Amino acid sequence: MSLRHLKPRRILALMHEALVPPESIEGLTDEQIHPWKMEYDVKTTLEQMGHEVHTVGLYGDLDPLRQAIERVEPDIVFNMLEEFDGQPLFDQHLVSYLELLKIPYTGCNPRGLTLAHDKALSKQILAHHDIPVPEFAVFEVGRKVRRPARLAFPLLVKSLIDEGSVGISRASVVKDDKSLARRVEILHRRTGRPAIAEQYIAGRELYMSIVGNDRVKTFTPWEMVMKNLPAGAPNIATSKLKWSYAHQEEVGLSTVPAKLTRTEARRLDDLSKRIYHALSLTGYARLDFRMSEAGEFYLLEANPNPCLAFGEDFAEAVETAGTDYETLLDLILRQGLAYKVAV
Ligand SMILES: Nc1ncnc2c1ncn2[C@@H]1O[C@H](COP(=O)(O)OP(=O)(O)O)[C@@H](O)[C@H]1O
Ligand SMILES: [Mg+2]
Repeated sequence: MSLRHLKPRRILALMHEALVPPESIEGLTDEQIHPWKMEYDVKTTLEQMGHEVHTVGLYGDLDPLRQAIERVEPDIVFNMLEEFDGQPLFDQHLVSYLELLKIPYTGCNPRGLTLAHDKALSKQILAHHDIPVPEFAVFEVGRKVRRPARLAFPLLVKSLIDEGSVGISRASVVKDDKSLARRVEILHRRTGRPAIAEQYIAGRELYMSIVGNDRVKTFTPWEMVMKNLPAGAPNIATSKLKWSYAHQEEVGLSTVPAKLTRTEARRLDDLSKRIYHALSLTGYARLDFRMSEAGEFYLLEANPNPCLAFGEDFAEAVETAGTDYETLLDLILRQGLAYKVAV
């Protein structure tokens, strides 16, 4: 897709204070660049596109943001923050703050962030819309683990709101009540937050990339493949798989365009758009699905504001569908400028 890009804008790039990238990456290794690659790629690409880009890093204090807004008077904030004060749920308050200041921003609105972050609430809403989701139960911290009778093994135990496969290992797929209680306890200890146990969906793992507000565009469906997974090991994205290059190599991990029949691709596309709207998502998002052996698609979770690093899954899926990186960032800016705050 080739669009004429927006005229130059004054952009305030908002990011975690520890991820503000240096001016130059000369002499740095991939490992050193990796943590803030998205921030670097977005900033430098926006600059190459002719925009005036200012950067502000935040952790637990809003003052630097307010001061930067007063100083820069941005046309739009490019939001790359995923937490505030170490709390992943506070990102929704941050964009609420921008809405109160009447400053346009990129990415998802507060309501969409709130709904998508909660892996149970989002599934309840989707079930209401007859969209297939795994059966689940939530286990609060400090309560005895009692499995509802409707929930049959095997189950996958994970955090209700944490991202990045926190606390997920191969042992997170449980087949009896004793292991269920053990995994729930491990998650409670690690995160201090509720755990969710979901019906384990055996099958393929697919990701869908979407950009838009009321009208949305979907891109090439993506698939996680592991060529050398040991026999019997579940093909899930454990935290080790997400964070260890050595482990990725060991299991032969790759993410590639998903081979789907026309009917499957159409169904996934249609489902993705319905999910995006049902969860009030805006800006851009990646939806994580499992495709069961019977060919049914189940939403695992919606990720508003996914990683935008050049060459990472989201940008790759978009590029494969014919939209280059600059045009992707341009599209994201357009959604932010066009978004009408819900009142
Ligand atoms: N119900 C499920 N059935 C099968 N695999 C699952 C299920 N829930 C999660 N997984 C596996 O765990 C990974 C992480 O779960 P996900 O819900 O995407 O949380 P996050 O990515 O936020 O940590 C998924 O990518 C998938 O491999
Ligand atoms: Mg996920």
